[in-house]
Amino acid sequence: MDLKAFAERLEALARELEAQLARAESLREVEALRVRALGKKGELKQALASIGALAPDARKEAGRIANAVKARLEGALADARARVEVLERKRRMEAERIDPTLPGRRPPLGARHLLSRSLEEMVAIFRAMGFALEEGPEIETERHNFDDLNIPPEHPARAMHDTFFLRDLAGYVLRTHTSPVQIRAMRAWRERGMQPPLAVVAAGRVFRCDEDATHSPMFHQIEGFVVDRHISLAHLKWTLRRFLEAWFARTAPIRLRPSYFPFTEPSVEVDIGCLICEGRGCRVCKESGWLEVLGAGMIHPRVLENAGIPPERFSGFAFGLGVERLVMLKYGVPDLRWFFQGDVRAGGM
Ligand code: PHE
Repeated sequence: MDLKAFAERLEALARELEAQLARAESLREVEALRVRALGKKGELKQALASIGALAPDARKEAGRIANAVKARLEGALADARARVEVLERKRRMEAERIDPTLPGRRPPLGARHLLSRSLEEMVAIFRAMGFALEEGPEIETERHNFDDLNIPPEHPARAMHDTFFLRDLAGYVLRTHTSPVQIRAMRAWRERGMQPPLAVVAAGRVFRCDEDATHSPMFHQIEGFVVDRHISLAHLKWTLRRFLEAWFARTAPIRLRPSYFPFTEPSVEVDIGCLICEGRGCRVCKESGWLEVLGAGMIHPRVLENAGIPPERFSGFAFGLGVERLVMLKYGVPDLRWFFQGDVRAGGM
């Protein structure tokens, strides 16, 4: 081989590599070409190995040519790398392209349950009248739920029919009403050495074995009571009227009908003039012009005694109202079960 052939061989090598670099589309291809041309076992190295076969006086020139080709290839590689880098960035941006004009995905907005909001609002009305908020457990002793409230063991309200008993917890029930909070609150006040007047409101879940369009095994009650000297039914009536007018945001007549609860004497049921027909008579009030909204009465002396308050010196009134019923009447909810089935379609109210 002579110098000319050597030069041609390198020229061919450089041309071929330049052509291939021009077609390369990725950094990986460029790198593979570099290894092939300039790597340890690359074509340039192989060409250089053949320098020894040249005539001694041609070797220097051959070395010069080889160096020039090497520099040319390095330049071509650098150019290709720069070009391909731009290409790759473009591809990447294309793949990661986002459309900023697309409207965002709005998560459906949650809302507090109508019952929770109503419960809070009702309690706020009583608090504004000076009632203090107390609470009691949902799992209650039979003693608080019944005995202390003057409901003896043979009383029908204690029958399996209404009450959820706890299989593994003898002596406990799911409270069937919020009235046991009366006992708890009066005792707590006594223990703290506090003297009447006492005005307490309590709100929460109660449980009864019962289910249809107007009964649910779990529902909510608000209990309220006041104990002081000379408390009378007149105080009860005034308080309830103030509450109902605040809740329904309108004036409305109320009436007390004689009734019976073991823990109040006398006991009354409280009706409000029908909000739908204004007392003329309609389907909702069953043509009576009145809607029953709660039970109440004067706290039975035995209940005061059970809670450590001397009935000779103090008297009190108490009431218990069904939260669901008051919410249904105010917002026109036709079926009690809607509150608990979690179907949001009717939730626009
Ligand atoms: N606890 C009674 C009930 O659940 C309601 C009530 C409370 C009646 C307070 C009188 C006094 O039905």
